[in-house]
Amino acid sequence: MRRSQLNEILAESQALFAKHQIALPPFAHFTPNEWAKHDLSRFQEVFDLQLGWDVTDMGSNDFASTGLTLFTLRNGSVGGKPYPKPYAEKIMISREGQVTPCHFHWYKMEDIIHRGGGNMIIELYNRTTDEQCDTTDIDVVLDGERQRHKAGSRLRLTAGQSITLTQGLYHSFWAEPGFGPVILGEVSMVNDDRCDNRFLQQQSRFSEIEEDESPLHILCNEYARFLPLQEPSLCR
Ligand SMILES: [Fe+2]
Repeated sequence: MRRSQLNEILAESQALFAKHQIALPPFAHFTPNEWAKHDLSRFQEVFDLQLGWDVTDMGSNDFASTGLTLFTLRNGSVGGKPYPKPYAEKIMISREGQVTPCHFHWYKMEDIIHRGGGNMIIELYNRTTDEQCDTTDIDVVLDGERQRHKAGSRLRLTAGQSITLTQGLYHSFWAEPGFGPVILGEVSMVNDDRCDNRFLQQQSRFSEIEEDESPLHILCNEYARFLPLQEPSLCR
């Protein structure tokens, strides 16, 4: 993905969040120059826990068909040190027909919450012992209601609904074409994108970026690249 495309996606995402009256913390709007005016040592938690913007095509180089826009609002350290917060929260945008590829988490249990916009489609499978898709029925809980579905079922969630994804449950999701993008919340255990994503097809978690203009905002995995960070990261 080119940086200019990424900048457009960020501007469009900020506008979409604003349209849905979702306000982000102040650092979501910092440009690299604005970051540089701050005492960066006070933001160590942002850098260590990779809070902030995460626009990814999952290595597909085709953001329209495969990818997700996320903003990580809070997170903690795996194992509780040095950051003891045992929970995480994200706000995300899934665009029409834009697939987040099939994956599960070994450690993280997460609730995905439809916060507004079109329809969210989520496809689910149990996993086999060798981490492939199983053919067994799936048991899930949606807003406190237990449901059983066939393997590979596609559930349609509308605004206000949520689903609990337990460890080892394969999930893939997208916004249903024709109904607009979807704003999704995620409330979960600690998030570790370096080690806790098992994609069914091998997938990279972040985009390759071709620099053709300067960044509008720094992504969560780019702070050390664009800012003169003094402290070595505690979590790498
Ligand atoms: Fe997930």
